Formats: sequence, C-alpha cells, structure tokens
Amino acid sequence: MPEFEDDLGPDAQDETPPSPTIEAAHFRSVLGHYATGVTIITAEHDGKPYGLAANSFTSVSLDPPLVSFCAAHSSTTWPHIKAAGHFCVNILGEHQEELSRLFARSGADKFAGVGYSKVATGAPVIADVLGFLDCMIEAEHEAGDHVIVVGRVHDLDINQEGRPLLFFRGGYGRFDA
Ligand SMILES: Cc1cc2nc3c(=O)[nH]c(=O)nc-3n(C[C@H](O)[C@H](O)[C@H](O)COP(=O)(O)O)c2cc1C
Repeated sequence: MPEFEDDLGPDAQDETPPSPTIEAAHFRSVLGHYATGVTIITAEHDGKPYGLAANSFTSVSLDPPLVSFCAAHSSTTWPHIKAAGHFCVNILGEHQEELSRLFARSGADKFAGVGYSKVATGAPVIADVLGFLDCMIEAEHEAGDHVIVVGRVHDLDINQEGRPLLFFRGGYGRFDA
C-alpha cells in the first residue's frame, strides 16, 4: 500500500469535507467585489433573435479557441440558445448601460428598437458593441443552479475602440484611464 494512504488513514478517500453554510446575500456581496465587463449573449432560434445580459463570460482556451459563460436554469432565453447550438458574445461599451438593463429583464421584448446585424451562425451582433465572438456550443457542464456553457470561437472581431461597460458591487461603472 502506498505510504500516503497510510498517512491519511484507511477511509480518507471516502470522507467528504463538511459543506459550510454560505448565506446567499454574503455570497453575492463578496462576489460583487469582483469587477467584470458586461456582455449580451445572443442567438437566433426558429428565425427569432434571443439574448441575455451576462457577466460570467470568460476566455477559456487559445488552442483550440474556447470561451464560456454561465446560464441560470431559471433563464427563459437559455433553452433557445441551447436549441440554436450557437451563441454570439456581444461586448458592451460604456454607452450601453440601458441595453444591459433591457437584456437583463425576463420576458421583455428585448430586440424591439435594437439595431443589429447577423454573423455566420445567424446570431445577432448588436449595433455599436465594442466587439463580438461568434461561437458554436462545444460543451455544457451542469454546475449547481447554472450550466457552464463552453463555446468554440469561429469568428471574432473588434468593432470599435471604445471604453467598456463595467459591473461592480451590483452597479454599473466606467473605466477611467
Ligand atoms: C450585469 C448582469 C450580469 C448578468 N449575468 C448573468 C449571467 O452571467 N448568467 C445568467 O444566467 N444571468 C445573468 N444575468 C441575469 C440575466 O441577464 C437575466 O436573468 C436574464 O436576462 C433573464 O431573462 P431571460 O428569462 O430572458 O433569460 C445578469 C444580469 C446583469 C444585470
């Protein structure tokens, strides 16, 4: 028997550490101290555009080119993105706070009056965003009350060199540099 197993004791590998009770408000408050950018994740499904505001977007891998975001199980937009099999990440500029608010509202007619063009997958690229990434869904990982969605980037570009919209401690902010 390897030495390390003796050191840990016979049942060490079966023992699950006790789960601490984390209060939701405290969890949100601490995580809120991590500043992020803001994106709108879009897709086209059955000829209709869909989108939701998301700040869980992150870069995952360069080779192959992968990115991810987390979708809440409660999202009514996520099933359409999942069915579409693709998504487009729209990176918001500081002038697009109202757009973020609109796309964070469940049940709203989100694309009414919003200008957009389409990328190769058919997903909407919203007018005046800083940049976009056009992705095919590569994997989905269940993670508590969210699903981690991994996308393979097929196309991406910078649309303008503006400043980003930021999200910090539950509010919007600007990058002053
Ligand atoms: C700044 C910001 C970031 C958000 N990030 C996420 C996210 O990463 N994932 C998510 O599922 N919802 C996120 N939300 C909430 C969704 O935008 C919102 O629940 C969703 O648009 C609800 O609409 P739906 O039912 O059409 O999906 C975020 C909201 C805001 C304001």
